[in-house]
Amino acid sequence: ISLKPYNTFGINAKAAFFVEIFSEADLKALFQNELTKTEKLLIVGGGSNVLFTQDYDGLVIKISIKGLAFKVNDKDITVTAGAGVVWNDFVNYCVEHRFAGVENLSLIPGTVGASPIQNIGAYGVELKDVFESCTAFEIKTGEIKTFNYADCHFGYRESIFKGLLKGQFIITSVTFNLKTEAAVNTSYGAIETELQKRGIENPGIADVSAAVSHIRVSKLPDPSTIGNAGSFFKNPVIEKYEFANVVAKHPDVVHYPTPDDKIKLAAGWLIEQCGWKGKVEGQTGTWKNQALVLVNHGNATGKEIYNFSAQIIDSVKSTFGVTLEREVNIL
Ligand code: FAD
Ligand code: EPU
Repeated sequence: ISLKPYNTFGINAKAAFFVEIFSEADLKALFQNELTKTEKLLIVGGGSNVLFTQDYDGLVIKISIKGLAFKVNDKDITVTAGAGVVWNDFVNYCVEHRFAGVENLSLIPGTVGASPIQNIGAYGVELKDVFESCTAFEIKTGEIKTFNYADCHFGYRESIFKGLLKGQFIITSVTFNLKTEAAVNTSYGAIETELQKRGIENPGIADVSAAVSHIRVSKLPDPSTIGNAGSFFKNPVIEKYEFANVVAKHPDVVHYPTPDDKIKLAAGWLIEQCGWKGKVEGQTGTWKNQALVLVNHGNATGKEIYNFSAQIIDSVKSTFGVTLEREVNIL
């Protein structure tokens, strides 16, 4: 089966085996099948953070477990969503119900189940800020386990599911901690500017959601027309002494302090400075409005995109002495 409809880069890789799962019961039944023991396994949600550089010689398991429910306890709301719920449908549901907390994460592609994997984040909010717990199927034992906040070891684009427990659990649902009344977070400069442009002085969560959506559409390519997986690299986090070397040579380097006393650089800026912004090479390239996003202009192969990304890494390394790390999962 072609995986083209199942990855937002639109790479035409093939899977030896493919199955779609609609419930925890489906998952348990699947793992009675011999294939799950003999084949290597790949879990996908929306396929919006993967790059296939070759055919997948194993079993691809697409998670489509639906369901959304909420509980109200005074001003606190807990919402539980199935892993296969489309992330932005969940966000819209919360905004419509006036549940505050995820409006800054509007329009991120993919599924609820993938959101804890890399602790998705945008516009001043990360998944971890609203995460209560998740349930996950343990491949080795077939049991459903619960992970609380502290179990997940969230960091910038990191969690235990990408680290120590990689490949061991399939997330089946996520529970979020939201509020009925909350101050909106407009700390990210671009949101404030957009709200000002709209003449909104006391924004509510629907205003923030609309502003974020607008900014995203103006900067990021829509995967339904131009294949991509969002930021291809992480923003590099470096030590202060390393930063001193960078800023000495490049005084205008875009940077932010991190809570653990390090410095985060804007990878998009580094890449742009090296002359890559909007570059087209064969069927691949960087996006004209956001150099951190690599795109498929039509029929790129995963290998071409991967090789292109390697050139960018080399270039940024030789200009700034900083090593970019890929954010996208390479397969
Ligand atoms: P997939 O790509 O299907 O999978 C990603 C990884 O998670 C894989 O390793 C997969 O094996 C694993 N996985 C998926 N589902 C499960 C599950 N149920 N259980 C266990 N493992 C699982 N990300 C951000 O953080 N912030 C952004 O602002 C952002 N913007 C984006 C903009 C665009 C245009 C695009 C295309 C992507 C963007 N991304 C962003 C990346 C992407 O949206 C997120 O990483 C998202 O969480 C991926 O969800 P998915 O369901 O598509 O995951
Ligand atoms: N910049 C440039 N040139 C570019 C791109 C960016 O100079 O081509 C500079 C600008 O100065 C800008 C700064 O970089 O002020 C930051 O850019 P932006 O606000 O677009 O955010 P980002 O750091 O490039 C990160 C996330 C995005 C997330 C946005 C908004 C990572 C790897 N990426 O991008 O997440 O949507 O912030 O919060 O952390 C994703 O993970 O796929 C993703 C899109």
